[in-house]
Amino acid sequence: MMTLRKHSLSMYRSCQVGAVLLLWALALPGCGMFEGPPTHSVGHSYKQIGAEEGTHLRYQDPDRYTWQYPERVIKALKLEAGMKVADLGSGTGYFSFRLAEAVGSSGKVYAIDIDAEMNASIDKQAVAKQIENVKTLLAVEHDPLIPEMVDIIFSVNAYHHLKDRAAYFRNAARYLKPEGRVAIIDFREGAFRHFTPRRVLLEEFKAAGYALDKTHGFLPRQNFLVFSLAKN
Ligand SMILES: C[S@@+](CC[C@H](N)C(=O)[O-])C[C@H]1O[C@@H](n2cnc3c(N)ncnc32)[C@H](O)[C@@H]1O
Repeated sequence: MMTLRKHSLSMYRSCQVGAVLLLWALALPGCGMFEGPPTHSVGHSYKQIGAEEGTHLRYQDPDRYTWQYPERVIKALKLEAGMKVADLGSGTGYFSFRLAEAVGSSGKVYAIDIDAEMNASIDKQAVAKQIENVKTLLAVEHDPLIPEMVDIIFSVNAYHHLKDRAAYFRNAARYLKPEGRVAIIDFREGAFRHFTPRRVLLEEFKAAGYALDKTHGFLPRQNFLVFSLAKN
């Protein structure tokens, strides 16, 4: 009887380990977290095989560090204490919490997504980490619905999800302070199956009424462009 119970316990443990390994296997095929079965497309929310944990693992995969350079990205944004930041398409908050640290307790990060599960994941982490300056917002497809003007709208790997992007950012201008900026990071052609060529970013932001401020060339897989409202 005792032996049988021990055997069942060890089977149960093996299953637990197996489930964790399976999640990692799903998270880590090919060259990193954004590889895997086709699960999203333009204008749709990102769902990883229906598993919140799976999505979280993919977005937070440590391998991402080797090409996402989060600290360099945050430094390049030149954020100051007290700034208000919108993290558009924040997912599970890979950047939201880093942005929150950069703007300090007098600043605020709006973590914006159309997927309530993503926001729930961020809320959960914020409670666990006792971080009070990250506020999730449930947006609609064509509007981030930010409740106040912000210093910067920052968006990573979400641009290719948006529909009618010139109209989107023409509308989003009303959430930007006069000297506000929009920083977009999205995959380069060939780096991932969903991407936005630099030329398209430039055309669409011009059409939306913005001018290019800066191009950061240090990310190996992504374009990183910063725009401000065109003065005319
Ligand atoms: C590939 S994930 C990137 C998540 C996060 N920025 C990161 O770098 O880990 C793209 C996110 O954009 C969200 N998204 C898609 N369309 C959106 C829209 N119109 N407004 C806000 N978020 C959107 C998706 O739900 C998803 O969480």
